[in-house]
Amino acid sequence: MHVAIIMDGNGRWASRRGLPRTAGHAAGARAVNRTVEAAARGPIDILTLYAFSSSNWSRPHNEVRHLMGLFRRYLISETARCVENGVRVCVIGRRDRLGADLVQAIECTETLTRGGTRLMLRLAVDYSSREALTQAAEAGGDSSFAERLAADGMLDVDLLIRTGGERRLSDFLLWESAYAELVFVDAFWPDFDENALAEALDQFHKRERRFGGLRPAPCLQNSGAQR
Ligand code: FPP
Repeated sequence: MHVAIIMDGNGRWASRRGLPRTAGHAAGARAVNRTVEAAARGPIDILTLYAFSSSNWSRPHNEVRHLMGLFRRYLISETARCVENGVRVCVIGRRDRLGADLVQAIECTETLTRGGTRLMLRLAVDYSSREALTQAAEAGGDSSFAERLAADGMLDVDLLIRTGGERRLSDFLLWESAYAELVFVDAFWPDFDENALAEALDQFHKRERRFGGLRPAPCLQNSGAQR
């Protein structure tokens, strides 16, 4: 089963507490840890987290720098635990605009965790779904468009969760979410935890997935069979 999360609300979480936005992102990183641990224990095979969209470059320089530092520290501090827990980490998105030290941390984590089979954790950094689709379309070649997308790691999403009360996709996994069940959570991302994930999974299991047909196909019903 592939779960994707738009982690929204760090800034509002912080400002409600009279804290700088960066404190919200730091609390958001702790929520990432909790969520990855819960996902690795549960029925989730793939977890894709929207960490930084290509539109986020327009944020103040300080905030962007803080986020990039947070990603790097996260990769460095969590790699050993990921290896221990069978979590394979992959980063999707552009790398040519990231700092060399972050790219190095990404490559190192991807290499060290590549044997993980329990959970694939995909972090979307400098990611734009439209751009990924445009690139695949422009790449051409002998294979079909759908084959190229699959080769680029575009995996169908079963459940897409967005925290923070907004109800939009914000250029995240547009192709992959064609048949995703959408769950919107009012809580801000730093407050997301194992219970919130369980609740979202609960909602997902109550939905009837028909994939455009008339009745739920038993073999496809909430099974994540399209991996
Ligand atoms: C959106 O909240 C969140 C982001 C742009 C950054 C997401 C980053 C993290 C959760 C930090 C840690 C991530 C990893 C992978 C270690 P917002 O800042 O737009 O919140 P707002 O809508 O309340 O302003």
